[in-house]
Amino acid sequence: MTTTLNNGITMSLTGLGVWRMEEKLIKNVILNAIKIGYRHFDCAAKYQNEAEVGEALAEAFDTGLVKREDIFITIKLWNFDHRHVLEACKDSLKKLQLDYLDLYLVHYPIVTKHTGIGKTASVRDEDGVLDIDSTISLETTWQSGMLWKICFQWDCNYSVPLIGECLAYAKVKPAVNQIETHPYFQCDSIIKFCRKHGICVTAHTSQGGATANVDGSVSFLEDPVLKKLADKYKKTVAQIVLCWNIHRNMVVIPKSSKIERLQENFSVFDFELTEKDMVDIMSVDWKLRCNQPAKSWDIFV
Ligand SMILES: NC(=O)c1ccc[n+]([C@@H]2O[C@H](COP(=O)([O-])OP(=O)(O)OC[C@H]3O[C@@H](n4cnc5c(N)ncnc54)[C@H](OP(=O)(O)O)[C@@H]3O)[C@@H](O)[C@H]2O)c1
Repeated sequence: MTTTLNNGITMSLTGLGVWRMEEKLIKNVILNAIKIGYRHFDCAAKYQNEAEVGEALAEAFDTGLVKREDIFITIKLWNFDHRHVLEACKDSLKKLQLDYLDLYLVHYPIVTKHTGIGKTASVRDEDGVLDIDSTISLETTWQSGMLWKICFQWDCNYSVPLIGECLAYAKVKPAVNQIETHPYFQCDSIIKFCRKHGICVTAHTSQGGATANVDGSVSFLEDPVLKKLADKYKKTVAQIVLCWNIHRNMVVIPKSSKIERLQENFSVFDFELTEKDMVDIMSVDWKLRCNQPAKSWDIFV
């Protein structure tokens, strides 16, 4: 199943996120994902595994498993490369062994001090404060013709007015906004706002990210309301959550290094939630964000 972005390009509704994927597993996971049917991979310079992803993709193309044009690759520009978009983009392409990307996202709406292409640290000044030094030059890169599409990403705490501001100055309308959203952090207003402006929303951290399956963490995978729905449909909570996001017209990119979970996360199109189920899920929106980089950056994003 695919969605068509505001630039006419189609993107699979179910992708595979590769953040925190164990390097030695990447090739096997990606090749198996392609065999299962995944055609959309969510990558980023910050994940520091572009080379491993590139090796897997090269093997998939060389062995005829899939053609480049049938795969959708997302890459993200890290915070301190905003003034070095072309170099950063070329660096990612080289590591991925690709000659074009399908989607280039600004990873976060903040810009930190540049310390070299391909490096992804967030450097603080001597006073311990994170430095911030420029504005986005992604549009210039797009004009160079190297990117097929240009898309901006905002995180959830980026306010709706700020998106409005970006829409006012962007010559190329943003096509995708990738945000954390799951039943405990539903973000309905930002999703509705994006939809109103023709911006597709992708859900990251849809399984709770680092808190998924961790004893003692608050995880919606154990939520009684969601478990009840899982029993009703004879599905797992993870599948209920993915189906719920797709029902909200979202794209999902759950990460898993387990082949059986790749299959599970891809098998979410053979049932549909009712409006009553959607209302029930609405009741568990605890506004609980799992991925909060501000904690380590001391910057509210
Ligand atoms: N734009 C951004 O700022 C941003 C931020 C965060 C993430 N992302 C993107 O979004 C992707 C997904 O987010 P994420 O990786 O943080 O977290 P996630 O997809 O919410 O959760 C991944 C965790 O859930 C487990 N899991 C996956 N499927 C499962 C299932 N069916 N049942 C039970 N557990 C399951 C995985 O374990 P196993 O691997 O052991 O299966 C892993 O521990 C990332 O890989 C990245 O591409 C983007």
